[in-house]
Amino acid sequence: MTERVIALVDAGRHKPLPPPVKPVAGPTRDRLGRTLRDLRISVTDRCNFRCVYCMPKEVFGKDYPYLAHDQLLSFEEIARLAKVFVAHGVEKIRLTGGEPLLRKNVERLVEMLAAITLPSGERVELTLTSNGSLLAKKARALKDAGLRRVTVSLDALDDPTFMAMNDADFPVAKVLAGIEAADAAGLAPVKVNMVVKRGVNEHSILPMARRFKGTGHVLRFIEFMDVGATNGWCMDDVIASREIIRMIDAEMPLEPIDPNYHGEVAERWRYRDGSGEIGVISSVTQAFCRSCTRARISTEGMLYTCLFATSGYDFRALLREGKSDAEIRAAIAAVWGARDDRYSEIRTAETAKERKIEMSYIGG
Ligand code: GTP
Ligand code: 5AD
Ligand code: SF4
Ligand code: SF4
Repeated sequence: MTERVIALVDAGRHKPLPPPVKPVAGPTRDRLGRTLRDLRISVTDRCNFRCVYCMPKEVFGKDYPYLAHDQLLSFEEIARLAKVFVAHGVEKIRLTGGEPLLRKNVERLVEMLAAITLPSGERVELTLTSNGSLLAKKARALKDAGLRRVTVSLDALDDPTFMAMNDADFPVAKVLAGIEAADAAGLAPVKVNMVVKRGVNEHSILPMARRFKGTGHVLRFIEFMDVGATNGWCMDDVIASREIIRMIDAEMPLEPIDPNYHGEVAERWRYRDGSGEIGVISSVTQAFCRSCTRARISTEGMLYTCLFATSGYDFRALLREGKSDAEIRAAIAAVWGARDDRYSEIRTAETAKERKIEMSYIGG
């Protein structure tokens, strides 16, 4: 089969910045009244897995044009942007990828970001989403550098299913070792994300629930989404969270619990026998756009106001043109003030076919 090469760099698809607005006292609200609280920063567009729903091999083959080093934001550029976002109201930063632990010396970036303080004087909450492959090696150094928690993706407990999903022959045991290393290093509670795809790993739902019950790790089931333009999504592939809760509750009784904070994407449930909690992320069947406080910065410094965006704003240009912190802050306020994204609420079979930005480029 010939390889389809889709460049993820959205050259030519940048949106012009809206006219700057003077920051007002208090947080900027977008057009739907939402504030900006979370920033997700993708630090590499590369990954050592080829999850079929994210970086399918026939698209991300050996000739895939990844970003060159000078296209990436440097650590100094990321830290500077992050500081301006925090001054603007961001309280939580998540590092993503691709696989963020593939970025060379990422611990140094963690150290720089962990030192950022909120206007209240508290440290920013710094977390990271990883596929777990390098965690056993890096958990201690990440903790020492100031990382608070990690979220690890794991889609099945048996090697044939997991390997069919990661398409890189990566065994389950190594991810489990990464999760334990993170927990032992104090990056806890470790959250474990499982994307559920009908006909692919639904048989792993109960084994995963049994495996993590009582461990202190928080397993979350994610509805398979139509992110990007390469994952061939269709509604039939989605197993609704309701169905997952029903399955688990029938064997291990559950009860709902309150969210940890406003806008939490996972709906929380706890085992009635007191042996911990799980979560479901119903991004397809119960969209949570109404409380979406998230912005995303791609590996090359484009700002996206939605996971399903088709274009972003070029903040790398602002940094490299020598704009001041105040000018960058005004640009953030302008972009956020103009934001009206609510993709998951208006998803249809048609929108699912749009050429959206890939998750490996923008981060989960
Ligand atoms: P914590 O509560 O700090 O653990 O973070 P979180 O719940 O935001 O977790 P995480 O970043 O691991 O997000 C879990 C998954 O939810 C992601 O991998 C996505 O699949 C999905 N998700 C997160 N944010 C969004 C969003 O803004 N929109 C949609 N549609 N899905 C999202
Ligand atoms: N649908 C739902 N979740 C996804 N992720 C990646 N692609 C998808 C998708 N199509 C999740 C991964 C990981 C995080 C980075 O995003 O499982 O937990
Ligand atoms: Fe890599 Fe995560 Fe995408 Fe899988 S879902 S290919 S681990 S970035
Ligand atoms: Fe936020 Fe867009 Fe996800 Fe809705 S679809 S929750 S607006 S990122």
